[in-house]
Amino acid sequence: MKILITGAAGFIASHIADAYVAQGHEVVILDDLSRGKRENLNPKCRFHFCDIRDRKSVNRIFREEKPTAVNHHAAQMDVRRGVREPLFDAEVNILGGINLLEAAVATGVQRFIYAGTAGAGYGEPKQVPVSEQYPINPITPYGISKHTVEHYLFAFQFLYGLNYVVVRYGNVYGPRQSSQGEAGVFAIFCEGLLTGKQPIIYGDGTKIRDYIYVSDVVTANVAALDHGTNEIFNISSGVQTTDQEVLDLVSKILGIATEPHYVARRAGEIDRICLDIRKAAGLLGWKPTVPLLAGAQQTVAYFEEKAKNRLRKVDDIG
Ligand SMILES: NC(=O)c1ccc[n+]([C@@H]2O[C@H](COP(=O)([O-])OP(=O)(O)OC[C@H]3O[C@@H](n4cnc5c(N)ncnc54)[C@H](O)[C@@H]3O)[C@@H](O)[C@H]2O)c1
Repeated sequence: MKILITGAAGFIASHIADAYVAQGHEVVILDDLSRGKRENLNPKCRFHFCDIRDRKSVNRIFREEKPTAVNHHAAQMDVRRGVREPLFDAEVNILGGINLLEAAVATGVQRFIYAGTAGAGYGEPKQVPVSEQYPINPITPYGISKHTVEHYLFAFQFLYGLNYVVVRYGNVYGPRQSSQGEAGVFAIFCEGLLTGKQPIIYGDGTKIRDYIYVSDVVTANVAALDHGTNEIFNISSGVQTTDQEVLDLVSKILGIATEPHYVARRAGEIDRICLDIRKAAGLLGWKPTVPLLAGAQQTVAYFEEKAKNRLRKVDDIG
């Protein structure tokens, strides 16, 4: 199958591109490299340097490539930037999304897989775990813009018969995640500790998140090629983990004892989220397989290797 993936120079979608290629699919990547890196691009994929807001280029690429399926991961995903610049956030996430949907309909795309967000969409839930039926109450522009595209998917299915699958992620972690910005606690703690920085915890360390290792997210996107048509799925581990537990785990694996700097909680951050993942088990035939300890070990190993390579480069220059 020919699949066009947006955002596959970035963290999650680069792993999805690798998996689709390994399965024998023809994969085309569309990314503006605003956050993604060339080194993450799978060399077997054709790459189009393109901003999803650029309607003309998006239309041209879809006309040229004629993909059978689209997997849409490109996004403005800096929650704080969305708060500062809600218009920019909406331009990328909503208008960019509509550009892709219109191009998909115009060129006969059969399936549109969309990376949604669970944490930013459900707001502060009254109880956990949260199922897909839980009312959407985003408390940030990013949560609003990411969720809005789900409405367009529903409408485009109704209007034009474009089939979709929405995968709403918990907190994804793993190799290639960026430590820039405030998302990606694992990446931030790993790089921070490896460069001798004192880790910062916003609040007292008791905030609860639901972490999912990136390879489990990949298998959900593989399953979504054939299953779960016109459905929305929570994709996460369903396990509650505090900020303090993540830091303690990373410190222990690295063998670096540390005392974090506790600072005030940031506005817009929720206390606790954990997802009900039973629907994905039933309809998508998907289950997470990587426990937190194993995922953390693989993530730490990746960042240790990256740090070593950086030192080697410095030595070479010296
Ligand atoms: N990381 C998480 O925990 C998480 C949780 C929930 C949902 N998501 C969603 O998953 C997707 C991927 O997240 P990620 O963590 O891999 O982020 P990432 O920043 O590593 O990847 C995003 C990619 O999109 C590209 N991009 C950004 N704006 C673009 C534009 N205007 N045009 C073309 N390309 C553009 C970037 O260059 C980057 O390569 C996003 O849609 C995000 O909302 C991520």
